[in-house]
Amino acid sequence: MENKTKLKGTAKLQIDNKTVELPIYEGTAGPDVIDVKKLYAETGHFTLDPGFTSTGSCESQITFIDGEKGELLHRGYPIDQLAEQADFIEVCYLLYYGELPKRDESRAFRRALTYHTMLDSQIDKFFEGFRRDSHPMAMMAGTVGALSAFYPDAMDVNDPEQRRLSSYRLIAKMPTLAARAYKYSIGQPFVYPRNELGYAENFLRMCFSVPAEDYVPNPVLTDAMDKIFILHADHEQNASTSTVRLAGSSGTHPFAAVSAGISSLWGPSHGGANQACLEMLQEIGTVDRIPDYVRRAKDKSDPFRLMGFGHRVYKNFDPRAKVMQKTAREVLDDLGVKTPLLKVAQELEKIALEDEYFVEKKLYPNVDFYSGIILNAIGFPTSMFTVLFALARTAGWVSQLNEMNQDKTQRIGRPRQIYTGAPRRDYVSADHR
Ligand code: SDX
Repeated sequence: MENKTKLKGTAKLQIDNKTVELPIYEGTAGPDVIDVKKLYAETGHFTLDPGFTSTGSCESQITFIDGEKGELLHRGYPIDQLAEQADFIEVCYLLYYGELPKRDESRAFRRALTYHTMLDSQIDKFFEGFRRDSHPMAMMAGTVGALSAFYPDAMDVNDPEQRRLSSYRLIAKMPTLAARAYKYSIGQPFVYPRNELGYAENFLRMCFSVPAEDYVPNPVLTDAMDKIFILHADHEQNASTSTVRLAGSSGTHPFAAVSAGISSLWGPSHGGANQACLEMLQEIGTVDRIPDYVRRAKDKSDPFRLMGFGHRVYKNFDPRAKVMQKTAREVLDDLGVKTPLLKVAQELEKIALEDEYFVEKKLYPNVDFYSGIILNAIGFPTSMFTVLFALARTAGWVSQLNEMNQDKTQRIGRPRQIYTGAPRRDYVSADHR
């Protein structure tokens, strides 16, 4: 990765009688940055920014979000165009290599991934160790980390070829692992991938086919699944991607870093929100109960939040939510599913967007608001929703990791702090405490 920031000027910081000049850099789009690398050396001060609301952790050329406009670009291409015109494997290639693949590149990439979808058969035994009612994300965090025990031949992150091979393995094997987590949780036999199937169709077949009858793919569901993967593929330096980068900054291998990312994504404020959102819609149940939940969401003394609403970066509609809403209608119409969930979601969105609390705080539906309705209609239990998010985000995680490992300015991540604990004091024996 060639570093491309441009020096734009300097920021002057006055501390006591000392003035420090800090460089300001500009990128292709988005806010300029003040480089504070030398702040401590020159002033003896740290910065403090819990949650990193004003702090950039890296230079990246993969994804850009304009939160005010509600725009999401992957290597410059708008997410709505990718969702409508590309497929997930093309987006994986774009994220990793920086350009849309030519036909021969696309063929070679698909073939390479296809021949990495199988798992070492001993990995199946890992699932036997879990309780049947284990959360599938627990199975994913465990088995993805364990892949390193079976594929140790490409874990040197300083070797681009080894990074590529482990990245391909992760993108290719996540569907096989995710389908196994699902099959194990419902007590059905594991299904092997088929090399003649596309990525999304292969995954749906591994999840929903049973030995007792032939599996009949539904092209509308296959297309919806592929679209959902595209919409979840990458998203700048979100919590789980930052976790993957921080873990990877120690030089650890991609399997460990991605396993850490899976654990971070699991949280209800992040990737776990799609499960929490559908459970919230199911709990609301009917349109007449919405006002009470909106009231609770605004009540500071009530920990309840409208899941699927709000975002650290988007202060406008999450463009992914718009595509997701359209896809939800297509899937429900095709399946002839009459679920009150979509009506509750649409009414909740309408009420919330007209409520001054949500308007003032710029809280809009995010990627998780409609995704659960589609996944529920396809047949997944809510416990699988975040697994599907992790499956798709693996493309972004390995691309961001690959970019970091090529970035000459990157060092091991080691934040500092402001200490407010006890001042130095001497040990006191138990008799004198
Ligand atoms: C994802 O970062 C990413 O890019 C993530 C993601 C990705 O693709 O990787 O986009 C995926 O994680 C989407 C977000 C999914 N999470 C949810 O839907 C959970 C509900 N949303 C919130 O918890 C919250 O909006 C966050 C976590 C998403 C954002 O949190 P922030 O940026 O720290 O904002 P905040 O919690 O400080 O909220 C600002 C204000 C607060 O009120 P005040 O303290 O200022 O009075 O808005 C309120 C919050 O109480 N608020 C909400 C709310 N979200 C924020 N109030 C009610 N319901 C909500 N959903």
